[in-house]
Amino acid sequence: MQKREIGAVICTMNGPNSSEFSFVITNAAESIPVRKGHFVELQGEDGTVIGVVSEIFKTNRYFERAEAVKEFERGAPLKSIFPIDRWEYVIANAKLMGVRSSVSGGFGKVDYPPSPGEKVYLADDEMLSEVLGFDRENGLNIGALYQHNTEVSLNLTRLLQKHVAILAMSGSGKSYLSSVLIEELLSRQREQGRLAIVVIDVHGEYIAFAEKPIHPSLENFSDKVKVMKGAYFEIAARHLTANLIMELAPQMSPIQARELGRIIDDMKKKMQESKQIFDLSDIINAVETDERINPRTKEALLGWLYDIESLKIVGREENPKLDDVLIPGKALIIDLSDTVNLRRKQIIITYLATRLFSLRRREEVPPFAMILEEAHQFCPEGSRGYAPSRGIIETIAREGRKFFASLVLISQRPVRLSTTVLSQCNTHVIMRVTNPYDLQHIGESSEGIDRSALETVSSLRAGEALIVGSAVNFPVFIHVRERKSNEPRLSRSIEDVARTFDV
Ligand SMILES: Nc1ncnc2c1ncn2[C@@H]1O[C@H](COP(=O)(O)OP(=O)(O)O)[C@@H](O)[C@H]1O
Ligand SMILES: [Mg+2]
Repeated sequence: MQKREIGAVICTMNGPNSSEFSFVITNAAESIPVRKGHFVELQGEDGTVIGVVSEIFKTNRYFERAEAVKEFERGAPLKSIFPIDRWEYVIANAKLMGVRSSVSGGFGKVDYPPSPGEKVYLADDEMLSEVLGFDRENGLNIGALYQHNTEVSLNLTRLLQKHVAILAMSGSGKSYLSSVLIEELLSRQREQGRLAIVVIDVHGEYIAFAEKPIHPSLENFSDKVKVMKGAYFEIAARHLTANLIMELAPQMSPIQARELGRIIDDMKKKMQESKQIFDLSDIINAVETDERINPRTKEALLGWLYDIESLKIVGREENPKLDDVLIPGKALIIDLSDTVNLRRKQIIITYLATRLFSLRRREEVPPFAMILEEAHQFCPEGSRGYAPSRGIIETIAREGRKFFASLVLISQRPVRLSTTVLSQCNTHVIMRVTNPYDLQHIGESSEGIDRSALETVSSLRAGEALIVGSAVNFPVFIHVRERKSNEPRLSRSIEDVARTFDV
């Protein structure tokens, strides 16, 4: 493709230097509107230099001196006397990102300024892909680069070997992006490496994946997706451990937990010998009839156990059977939209994450990515409240990559999200955020975000995102692509809903 020339390097007070330069946009660029965020390339001493436009401004000599402008405007308008338009210049500042060595072909840091007068071109797609670290062949195509048509294809390992956080206020497109990500993961071929996907769908936004397309132009994912309603979710009593119960009943004392652990272990042994399966009522029975236990501990334990029983979530068998439901290239959606009780949701997530991680450590399930909406509710920052699921989510965040268990955490309140977890998310996808506290928090917890990027974050529109971290070589702004699958039906307007009641 022919290179598209847009300008020429100019001299400024301190540039061009080895980290930035300015260029004037020339007539050659007439048909190419140059904007903030554009990537540019030019010839440098050591090879092709790539930069990104960080600011654009206009200047016009005719308007530099206030007194002259005022004096002239007293008579006829300036415009009728001078060819003002011809004196208007557009100047762009650009930051240098790197140089592709003309000798080795490798990409490195720029340590020598480009020359004044050097022609500036729009960066070419292929080069950009390489420079930004995209994987054009086997990556996950989630959209296009801001201001360019370059496909944003993120390498699976770079994105999901560690964890991802998608952070933004509501309505900015987090769930939409995560659906696009799911489409990409479900579309992979066996040879490309496929993960199993688990979606914890707090609002029922992903269940449309399991339905046939509502329009012929949409792609069918229904044969790769299974939905499980929270109401049917069951924990197998034999997979309960004292630790898990302790998470479920956080006020339990260590002594109580130890006693309970002993009783459950005894029961497991006994049942294994007689090949029987036990449930929660058997555990309750065992506590009731245990003679070694101190009466006060017994009473407290029974209290916790009855409380768990009232949630009707522990049974003889687990449902779904977690060692069976994870399949490479397929998704399991746990639909919690009908589960009103927050404690029940917490328990489901705690159990699910604990079991899946332990199955994964024993390599009994495929590598997986777990997508968690409302992550701040299930993994809050210590001072901001308690959630039983926090412990296991932090554990997966810290150790998951050794076992190929990745997290995709979605949150509209990053300030409330556990900092332990946030710091283990090596890729942050940041969409529109306007709350100053959240912005400040993101600025502090995401690597590679500078002030100007942070300012841009507050002016992003729905479907636009900033990606920073291990998935990309440089922070990039992108447009998330349109989805290929059914949109959730819940995006009804208040007018629609009102009309159905107004007949
Ligand atoms: N990339 C996109 N392309 C088109 N529409 C989008 C895009 N991202 C978001 N939207 C629209 O914006 C709205 C909000 O998106 P959603 O993902 O539900 O936001 P969030 O999960 O952040 O609250 C949805 O109605 C969705 O259709
Ligand atoms: Mg959402």
